[in-house]
Amino acid sequence: MKVKSLILYASWTGNTKIVAENIAKGLKKGKIGVEVKNIKRAELKDVESSDILVIGSATHIEKALSSVKSFFEKLPEDALKNKIGASFAVHGGRGGEKVIKEIKRYFIEKGVKSVKLSLIITAGVPFLPIRRPKEIDLKKCEDFGEKIAKQKKSARR
Ligand SMILES: Cc1cc2nc3c(=O)[nH]c(=O)nc-3n(C[C@H](O)[C@H](O)[C@H](O)COP(=O)(O)O)c2cc1C
Repeated sequence: MKVKSLILYASWTGNTKIVAENIAKGLKKGKIGVEVKNIKRAELKDVESSDILVIGSATHIEKALSSVKSFFEKLPEDALKNKIGASFAVHGGRGGEKVIKEIKRYFIEKGVKSVKLSLIITAGVPFLPIRRPKEIDLKKCEDFGEKIAKQKKSARR
């Protein structure tokens, strides 16, 4: 059966969504099934049917958006037991690593099997109009997706 991944993003002005969509490209290249969803609309059945969960957030005051915390709070204790986790953050320049730490902590609290890979992309403030992720960053996202796919494959061996 094809390995499935679920990418959940928490985004306010769209950058984290763009990042999620480009991570999806890399996972697809690595022959992994992918679904991309706003974390606010994630359902337990989406999580249960996935082998890999990739979760990312915009950075607000050096924290993940509150929808990330709410999502994890609603998950049953063992919902992530046999799953691989990966995290990503989009920041304007400060605090992305704190968001990664925060998401990793939630993953670990819910008993995820592995949560090694993470990615930080810089976009957004301080410039207006909104500074979108650059081509070079979108490539990083795609590479990150491929890396997650490879991690899953080596875990199966
Ligand atoms: C209320 C608010 C707080 C923010 N706080 C931070 C911050 O602490 N550090 C940072 O680097 N960027 C911060 N940003 C910038 C966003 O993280 C950045 O614009 C990001 O690209 C937004 O992602 P999104 O388009 O997915 O919402 C903040 C933006 C807003 C609107």
